[in-house]
Amino acid sequence: RPPGAHDDIAALIRTIPDHPKPGILFRDVTTLLLDPRGLAMVTARLAGLVPAGIDLIAGIEARGFIFGAALAHHLGKGLVLIRKDGKLPGATIGIDYALEYGTDRIEMHEDACVPGQTVLLVDDLIATGGTAQAAVRLLRQAGARVAGAAFVVDLPDLGGAEALRADGVPVTSLVGFP
Ligand code: PRP
Ligand code: ADE
Repeated sequence: RPPGAHDDIAALIRTIPDHPKPGILFRDVTTLLLDPRGLAMVTARLAGLVPAGIDLIAGIEARGFIFGAALAHHLGKGLVLIRKDGKLPGATIGIDYALEYGTDRIEMHEDACVPGQTVLLVDDLIATGGTAQAAVRLLRQAGARVAGAAFVVDLPDLGGAEALRADGVPVTSLVGFP
């Protein structure tokens, strides 16, 4: 199988049962990142899924920053940081959302996008889709056109990718775990 095949990426992701709560199968990308070729493989694969005409990449804290930053660097594009509550120093817009295992709030700088700019959202994983849907709402509120969302891992049984598509966002991912 060629280097960088989806199976190579899947094999580098460790599964930890019952983290952070009983019943959750946690898909752990730290093992992928430890591999000397892991981030490069993922970045090359993600780059192949990027729609034409993207102005910016947006990455979601924390694991989405790693893959979003690598992809932005690879493509020569700017990076919008979508951060957890209270971290950004400038004027922000924010939104509360439900997680697979709790609730959280994300924010972005209100002037991070020029209205009309085209953005690709990047995160390590989509589960229920609550995080990505909140990020899309924020980006749209800031005037961005969200041309797609790309994930390393999709958990299709949790319906997040489907929900995001229903919001009008084309969704791609490298690995699906049942
Ligand atoms: C994880 C993951 C996604 C989100 C997916 O982040 O990185 O951002 O959950 O879940 P959802 O589709 O059900 O919303 P987490 O909140 O654990 O934060 P971290 O990246 O800071 O560890
Ligand atoms: N974020 C939400 N659900 C997750 C899971 N099962 N594994 C890793 N990150 C997650």
